[in-house]
Amino acid sequence: MQEGFVIWFTGLSASGKTTLAKEVERELRARGMRYVQRLDGDVVRQDLTRDLGFSKKDRDENIHRVTFVAELLSKNGVATTCSFISPYRKARETARVRCHNFVEVYVQCPLEVLIERDPKGLYKKALTGEIKGFTGVDDPYEPPESAEIVVHTGQETIKESTDKVLAFLEENRLIPTANENAASAQVSAGEGK
Ligand SMILES: Nc1ncnc2c1ncn2[C@@H]1O[C@H](COP(=O)(O)OP(=O)(O)OP(=O)(O)O)[C@@H](O)[C@H]1O
Ligand SMILES: [Mg+2]
Repeated sequence: MQEGFVIWFTGLSASGKTTLAKEVERELRARGMRYVQRLDGDVVRQDLTRDLGFSKKDRDENIHRVTFVAELLSKNGVATTCSFISPYRKARETARVRCHNFVEVYVQCPLEVLIERDPKGLYKKALTGEIKGFTGVDDPYEPPESAEIVVHTGQETIKESTDKVLAFLEENRLIPTANENAASAQVSAGEGK
């Protein structure tokens, strides 16, 4: 059976968590992995945690519920990606303890670059005070101290950042390498003859 794991992307808004999770998911499927699930902050907040806001209590509860789901998935052989700002270290540490094969990815990017990117127009609103309690502007973000992987999306291309994550998973034998996948596809084709 496929070995389950959780790739936990944490970082400020617009740092690249969703972008990288989608790229990693695409690559895992391309390598023949069938059990892959992406959990994303924006999606989860419209459903599982739609009753929650952005106070510390609600942010912790958001991550608590997602951790529950990621734990179940990872313990049952699913390759799981989680993309959540998840600003509090303690909540991420709880996720680490509970999930099977937890891999933390710190998606680091300077604030100036994020303000420049501002794909949702949220930094503009936070900087003018239209929205309050925005992580990185007037709400805290506690950076990981020992993440398995750090990507610097202000300098790296999306491919470079994605490849760092894939390389770690390959090195830890959590996913097949692109070559192994091609070889196993040949064996299956041969068996079918
Ligand atoms: N190396 C990189 N990795 C990821 N994204 C990058 C990189 N370089 C540039 N980008 C760009 O940065 C933006 C990141 O947006 P994305 O929605 O992925 O952020 P996010 O961290 O999911 O934000 P939010 O917390 O608001 O959901 C995209 O427009 C993406 O194209
Ligand atoms: Mg996102």
